[in-house]
Amino acid sequence: MRVLGIESSCDETAAAVYDGSAGLLSNVVSSQVKVHAAYGGVVPELASREHLKSVVPVVEKALADAGSGRDAIDGIAATAGPGLIGSLLVGLCFAKSLSFAWEKPVCGVDHLESHVYAVFLESEVVFPYVALLVSGGHTSLFRVTGWEAMRFLGGTLDDAAGEAFDKAAKMMGVGYPGGVAIDRLSQGADPARYRFPRAWLSHDSADFSFSGLKTALRTFLASPEGAAAKVEDVAASFQEAIVDVLAGKALAAAKREGIPRLVLSGGVSANSRLRLLARERGAAEGVDVYLPSRSLCTDNAAMVALLGERRMSAGSRSGPELNAYAASRFTR
Ligand code: KG4
Ligand code: ZN
Repeated sequence: MRVLGIESSCDETAAAVYDGSAGLLSNVVSSQVKVHAAYGGVVPELASREHLKSVVPVVEKALADAGSGRDAIDGIAATAGPGLIGSLLVGLCFAKSLSFAWEKPVCGVDHLESHVYAVFLESEVVFPYVALLVSGGHTSLFRVTGWEAMRFLGGTLDDAAGEAFDKAAKMMGVGYPGGVAIDRLSQGADPARYRFPRAWLSHDSADFSFSGLKTALRTFLASPEGAAAKVEDVAASFQEAIVDVLAGKALAAAKREGIPRLVLSGGVSANSRLRLLARERGAAEGVDVYLPSRSLCTDNAAMVALLGERRMSAGSRSGPELNAYAASRFTR
C-alpha cells in the first residue's frame, strides 16, 4: 500500500508518503519554531493557526516530492493523539476530508506508537524490544512485542525530559527550543563540573522524575556559585544529570525484561550526549542500541505514514467517528 501520513500533534506540520514496497518516498516538515521562540514555549492557539496555514502546502509538497498523484495513494493516516487538541484537529480533520473527497480509507494513529515504531524506517528490529520514548511531552519505557503490542513499563511522575530541557534553557536564557540549545552549548564543556541530582527512585523502578532537578538548577543559578559559573559547564552538567538517568534506566529495563535490544525514540533521542552514552553503555552491557536518525526522532510524518501503512495493510480502518484525543492511552 502507498499511504499519505499527516502529523500535527504539536508545533510541526508534517506530511510524508510511505510505500510498503518502495519505502519512504517523501518527508516534509514545516517547523513553527520561529513563531513560538518569542514565548519560550509552544502557544497552543498560535500552533493551531499555523497548522491551518501550512497543512495544504505541506501535503502538496509531500505528494509532489513522492511523484504521487492522489490516484497513486491507497490510504491516508493521521495522528489522532495524544497532543494539543487544536493542533491535532487540524491534521486529523484535513485527513478525514481528503479521505471523503478522494474516496480513500483513513486511519488514525497514536503519536506515541508512531515514535516507537519509527525505527523501522531505517532498521529491521527484531521483536521484542524495549523502547525509550523521550520527548517534550513524554518520558516512558515500553516493552514492544509486535506491531499492535506495546506494554507500558514506566514513565515520568512529573516533567518529561524534553520539558525539563526546555524549562532549564529558559531559566539559563540560552535559547529555544531548549534541548537543542543545551545540546549545542554543552559541546566541549565539562559535564562533571557541577553535580546535579539524579532521581533513580527505587532500584528496579522504570519511572522517572525531573522536577527536583529543575528546582536544583533554579536554586543553583540563584546562588553566588551559580552566578559566577560558566553557562556551558552548567548546561553540560544539567544535561548529564538527565541523560545519565535516561540511559541508565532504559538499559536497566532492557536487562530486567531479558531483552538485549533497546530503541530510542522521540525528540530528546536527538541529543548527542544521550546517543553517545546509550551506545557506549549498551555495548558494554551486551544490549544492541538502535538510534534512528535525528530527523526521525523529532516529530515527523514519515513515522505516521509507516505505521498507517502497516496497520492499513493488516485491514485497519477508521470510521467517521475518528476523533482527536489529548491524553495518552498508555498509562500505569
Ligand atoms: O518528539 P518531539 O519533536 O515532540 C514531542 O512529541 O514532544 O520532541 C520535542 C522535544 C523538545 O522538548 C526539545 O527540546 C527536545 O525534544 N529536543 C532535544 C534535542 N532536540 C529536540 N532535547 C535534547 N537534545 C536535543 N538535541
Ligand atoms: Zn513527538
